[in-house]
Amino acid sequence: ELGKSGAPAALGFKAIPPNRLDSFIVPNGYDHSVIVRWGDEVLPGAPKFDVYQQSAEKQKKQFGYNNDFVAVLPLHGRDRALLVCNHEYANPELMFPGFTSTAALTVEQWKIIQAAVGMAVVEIERVGRTGEWQLVRNGRRPYNRRVTASDTRFTLTGPAAGHEWLKTAADRTGKSVIGTFANCAGGVTPWGTVLSGEENFNGVFVGANGAPEAAKPGLKRYGFDIANRGAANWDTADERFDLTKNPNEANRFGWIVELDPFDPKAAPRKHTALGRLKHEGANVILAKDKRVVAYTGDDERFDYLYKFVSHKKMRDGRSPSARQHNLTLLESGDLYVAKFDGSGRGRWLPLVKDNASRVEGMTVAEVLILTRLAADKLGATKMDRPEDVEPNPKTGKVYCALTNNSRRGVGTDPGVDPVNPRANNKHGHILEITEDNGDNASETFSWKLPIICGDPADPSTYFLGFDKSKVSPISCPDNVAFDAAGNLWIATDGNALEANDGLFAVPLEGPNAGYLKQFLSVPFGAESCGPFISADGKSVFTAVQHPGERDGARVENPASTWPDGDFAKPGIAVTWKLDNGPVGS
Ligand code: FEO
Ligand code: CA
Ligand code: CA
Ligand code: CA
Repeated sequence: ELGKSGAPAALGFKAIPPNRLDSFIVPNGYDHSVIVRWGDEVLPGAPKFDVYQQSAEKQKKQFGYNNDFVAVLPLHGRDRALLVCNHEYANPELMFPGFTSTAALTVEQWKIIQAAVGMAVVEIERVGRTGEWQLVRNGRRPYNRRVTASDTRFTLTGPAAGHEWLKTAADRTGKSVIGTFANCAGGVTPWGTVLSGEENFNGVFVGANGAPEAAKPGLKRYGFDIANRGAANWDTADERFDLTKNPNEANRFGWIVELDPFDPKAAPRKHTALGRLKHEGANVILAKDKRVVAYTGDDERFDYLYKFVSHKKMRDGRSPSARQHNLTLLESGDLYVAKFDGSGRGRWLPLVKDNASRVEGMTVAEVLILTRLAADKLGATKMDRPEDVEPNPKTGKVYCALTNNSRRGVGTDPGVDPVNPRANNKHGHILEITEDNGDNASETFSWKLPIICGDPADPSTYFLGFDKSKVSPISCPDNVAFDAAGNLWIATDGNALEANDGLFAVPLEGPNAGYLKQFLSVPFGAESCGPFISADGKSVFTAVQHPGERDGARVENPASTWPDGDFAKPGIAVTWKLDNGPVGS
């Protein structure tokens, strides 16, 4: 069943049943192992993890909390690689034994939290000739790196860098930021860097009620509570997170971050040209003329889908000068927001084009810093929470996970529209965009909804017209990926069908198009992140985020003990086929 480049000719695996087990479940004929988990050594010489003896200094050298996006970049040969991941947020109630309340967290515990988020780079090695990988535990690991909220210095690039609204007492240039956090999904660029989206950054600040009046409309639109100071938060350990004292600090987050894992000394960058929003992540593909096109979603109910097209073209080859050039591609370009119509057509509305603002009353820098307000003015289409948006490398068609929207069509909130067709959309759907002329730089496109999620017995669900008696139930799509055959893989977050989250695979073309099957499931309370399928097709990497988290419908869950049988730890697992075939076959 081998296709070209290790791609499965067909998704032949037997679906696993939905379940509520506190385990990582894979199909018959597959195995999995945990590569790295919270507290493991990242920087050589890191202290051995002890949950009862934590400190911020230790955490800065150890694998962080709540791994979300995962990328695996070949290092040298086919048996070594760099695993890069996001650490999105912290769960103090699960991290600190004896936790009583957020109000009771110590300054050191807040500092541990700020060290536990951000990103990590670790070297991994293949086990034998299989699809199994493990952490390299000995010797020099020069690329291993922790990026944190509290220590790593970032450079702001692009048209808004240095703007007044980005300057603070600690950074009079407005071009240099300490830290990244709320890093959700991401992507890998063709020049070998990793992109990471700063998503729910508003949640760590206090004091928006004391910010200058002129800043309040912007703060409000990004979810800050401008009526109240808010409970003690990251300001307990670092007063830059108090907006009464440092109102511009909020503007220094909400960007797309680019990290070069092959240059561990280089400052990562935040690219203002891609706009400031609650970026789920960003994924790039080349336009016909080799300009770089990045798709990015703003994950909030009724927020928008965006596209960036670089001014410069990508240069081929691995020469240092080509790479140096390519590292600048995301620093300047045109930014668009999506508008869908009812006949399956749509347009990318320019926000910034040819270095000029297309939004009345706003400069280029203002559009890029308050992108949500700019997109409101253009009348973009309000979506059901755009999560991961990723082009299928085989077809160039773009797939967006619209995870859910409990407020669609409820009360005075916006009602259904053709691209968001269900009121109180509990289970979400998948959007497919086909750019005109087969060119990802096009300003017009057609669209359809190949999958409308939920229990297949629910008449409102749809799976490309495939026989619904055969497909797996799926709820709340979040992360998407593709295998070399162009099959779509979907990871879920917040399954509202009373089963654990998981990873699903579905062909988009051929006789089995729409035959969606569940490939794996993650433990209690966890969100299924990544996924990342290796270039040889033999491995799929899954980040198990927040095992044991109790919220909403999951409140009755017993505590998770994944992965070690003691207390829950987020970690990254690899799944492979026992006969060494491509995953999914
Ligand atoms: Fe962090 Fe939009 O999920
Ligand atoms: Ca996500
Ligand atoms: Ca993805
Ligand atoms: Ca999510």
